[in-house]
Amino acid sequence: MKTITVHVSRPYDIHIESGILARAGEYIKDTMGACRVMIVTDDTVRALYGDTLSRSLHSAGLDTAEFVIPHGEASKNTTSLIALLNALAENAFTRTDIVCALGGGVVGDLAGFAAAVYLRGIRYVGIPTTVLSCVDSSVGGKTAVDLAAGKNLAGAFHHPSLVLCDPDTLQTLTPEVRADGFAEVIKYAVIGDAVLFDMLSNPDTMDMATVIARCIAQKARIVEEDETDHGVRKHLNFGHTAGHAIELRSNFSLMHGHGVAIGMRIATEYAIRRGICPAQVLPALSKLLTQYDLPTETEYAVDDLYEAATHDKKREGGHIDVVLPTGIGGCMLQRIPVAELPDFLRGGRS
Ligand SMILES: NC(=O)c1ccc[n+]([C@@H]2O[C@H](COP(=O)([O-])OP(=O)(O)OC[C@H]3O[C@@H](n4cnc5c(N)ncnc54)[C@H](O)[C@@H]3O)[C@@H](O)[C@H]2O)c1
Ligand SMILES: [Zn+2]
Repeated sequence: MKTITVHVSRPYDIHIESGILARAGEYIKDTMGACRVMIVTDDTVRALYGDTLSRSLHSAGLDTAEFVIPHGEASKNTTSLIALLNALAENAFTRTDIVCALGGGVVGDLAGFAAAVYLRGIRYVGIPTTVLSCVDSSVGGKTAVDLAAGKNLAGAFHHPSLVLCDPDTLQTLTPEVRADGFAEVIKYAVIGDAVLFDMLSNPDTMDMATVIARCIAQKARIVEEDETDHGVRKHLNFGHTAGHAIELRSNFSLMHGHGVAIGMRIATEYAIRRGICPAQVLPALSKLLTQYDLPTETEYAVDDLYEAATHDKKREGGHIDVVLPTGIGGCMLQRIPVAELPDFLRGGRS
């Protein structure tokens, strides 16, 4: 088993191991003590893994209740949040009880936010079941729901008390959802882990638990250094300036990771044009993205992307921070004037 301790204000462990889902009850009982567990999940994940989790919790002597949302981003809203808070109250959950998120980032964000505000904060456990939620949402403490005006507009920083990643659960992902998460994995490799980049290039010998652990370890180091998202944490936005713009321009028909994949290529091309990054990084990155069924090109006009990017919340004054690779396994933050953005955005085309 691989364990990573995240040293934030209240440190917690992330355990990564095949088959850990079936033993979740023991781990939760050992870490949290006697408690009642509100399992929050979506219909798809419930059908696949709900019984395994409930059985494990019951064998450990833990009492459970369940809150199930329809799968998909549309469920990450204030209606689900209020319904979940009411379910906690109706089941008389107290401050010693816990919320357990079984599912992808949608379930994790909703359950984490409910845990952050119910009784002014109760503990929660994450059991992420998508590549994205394992490597991205399980560290950092960001929780949120969407508002009509945009994604993640209402939320809180609330760290989990325990995270259990079972790589076996990733085997049932659709190819698209799996690929989407791998965009973030490739991001970690480019910005800070050349060894991971090599591992990803050899998928036949790659061990998924090791891949997840390396991503989590990197994000943990970054979050420990910058818990409130003002400095080095911005490195995690590699590929996200152009990626968000493409996602927005597609009206979210393009999945987040797919936009980030193209965004990483765009940022890399800019870095190469500026002499910050060696030219051979581009073919290596494009090859890896293609290998993981991710796109590397956009057909949207630079003007359209510029329009979308300047609506981005990361814009500060007349400048924007972009993350540029300096090679495979290294990156830097660069502040560019907004007037420079069209030039930044002009890559990603054949
Ligand atoms: N809190 C954070 O730091 C953070 C970071 C990144 C993303 N997010 C949020 O995460 C969300 C996206 O997460 P996601 O990509 O995991 O999406 P998701 O939770 O919607 O899951 C994607 C789809 O996969 C299905 N699924 C989940 N696990 C499965 C499994 N093991 N087998 C088969 N199907 C499975 C789900 O039912 C869903 O239909 C967004 O809302 C995003 O804002 C949060
Ligand atoms: Zn992302």
